[in-house]
Amino acid sequence: MVAKNGSPIAGAALAMEREAFRRLGERAIALAADHIADRPAQPAHRAVPLEKRRRILGEALPESGMDADAILDRLADDLLAYPFGNDHPRYFGYVVTAPAPIGVLADILARTANSPGGGEDHGGLYLHYAATRWVGELIGFPAEGGMGLLVPGGSTANLTGLAVARHVAAKADGWDVRAEGMQGGHRPMVLYATAEAHSCVRKSVELLGIGSANLRAVPTGADHRMDTAALKASIAADRAAGRRPFCVVASAGTVNTGAVDPLAEIADICAAEGIWLHVDGAYGAFGCVDPAMAPRYAGMERADSVALDPHKWLGVPVDCGCVLVRDGAAQRAAFSLVPDYLSGADAVDADTVRWPMEFGFDLTTPVRAAKLWAVIAHMGRKGVARMVTTHIAMARRLGALVAARAELELLAPVMLSVVCFRYRPAGWAADDGRLDKLNQAVVDALNADGTYHITPTRLEGRLCLRACLINYRTTDADVDGLPDHVAAIGAQVARQF
Ligand SMILES: Cc1ncc(COP(=O)(O)O)c(C=O)c1O
Repeated sequence: MVAKNGSPIAGAALAMEREAFRRLGERAIALAADHIADRPAQPAHRAVPLEKRRRILGEALPESGMDADAILDRLADDLLAYPFGNDHPRYFGYVVTAPAPIGVLADILARTANSPGGGEDHGGLYLHYAATRWVGELIGFPAEGGMGLLVPGGSTANLTGLAVARHVAAKADGWDVRAEGMQGGHRPMVLYATAEAHSCVRKSVELLGIGSANLRAVPTGADHRMDTAALKASIAADRAAGRRPFCVVASAGTVNTGAVDPLAEIADICAAEGIWLHVDGAYGAFGCVDPAMAPRYAGMERADSVALDPHKWLGVPVDCGCVLVRDGAAQRAAFSLVPDYLSGADAVDADTVRWPMEFGFDLTTPVRAAKLWAVIAHMGRKGVARMVTTHIAMARRLGALVAARAELELLAPVMLSVVCFRYRPAGWAADDGRLDKLNQAVVDALNADGTYHITPTRLEGRLCLRACLINYRTTDADVDGLPDHVAAIGAQVARQF
């Protein structure tokens, strides 16, 4: 292929004429549109057949390029036909959801420009600042002097917030963690979270050199929320032992039960103790837009940093995590490293817009802001509030339906949009040792059936079914049908026990 100027194109094998791209693009969009429309009538999840797995895994590297239509055929057959399941309205499993169509379209445009999100003067940079400000406004987090960074997901959002906390604590103690690492023989830093905090908190603590031995599992009450008296006692004990309490991670919606820790009380403790408050709202922070729930989130606006996941409840296509940091200058001090070849970093509008790469680890990133901006713009504040409030109401109703059935047992209060329960046939005692196995078998049978997909967890050692409702496509009928379905499958499965 030659360019318009008659000169040969370097990567001719990749180039595509406008009309070819348009035709293939229309085909791809048609495949996507059919997929979205057809999903509700399909099983929530189908296992990839063994022969298909083997064929994909063993496929030889093609010597010459494949035809583009054949590539789309293959992706339709091998990828679209076997999704994870979260794009289905009755997928109630992990905290992942269907992608908002407007986000999918926005991402195509962002990918077409392919601007690296780390910096420079391009449209995506300004969308980044606009979209992260909107996220802050949605949850009532102050913007002035702060920074919002888009990252791959909640795990990186938490890691980033905790890295800033570590840097700030070291600086307050008169040393520089960037220079010394964690090898300078200073007092061990200690971080506090409940055992219900997401596993990425422990991973972050390990990665930051704090060590999981210095991660305190603060006890929780029966509602799985942090016991603040125990938090205070734990901090006091660490201080007395010469350690350095530096950060509390409070959950604004735990992955297991949706518990929101008592944020205002924790904020008071952190303020009194001079400790960084980080809120993990990856799943639940957006729950505060439900007016009835807002009081539970009081105190979140006082956090030093908040991790959120627009690719969860907002339905922004994966990947899109976000960390909001109250003190943007502190975040920049924790991360900024601008080599000579990137010295344009100061050339933008440095008072209001700096290169995002100065505030986190990544340099080249996709412009996640395009799909985030598009999804929020498409819904507006009211649309976000309506969807979140509806999911929370659905979860309450599901909890009531479960509680009303003799053979189903609610295992945790419904606090957000997660319902934890198990199947317990008549005559089986609550401490019957077979219940875990039975419920695992119920989950397996339910997921094999495909009408619903849910994932199990353990609460106080007991295996339970966990239905998480964050999917914009889910209907009342989808939710209300679950108890009957579990009861019917449970009855079949229990016969084999
Ligand atoms: C509360 C909470 N925090 C953090 C994470 C990690 O987020 P991600 O999977 O986007 O890295 C999750 C994921 O479910 C979560 O529920």
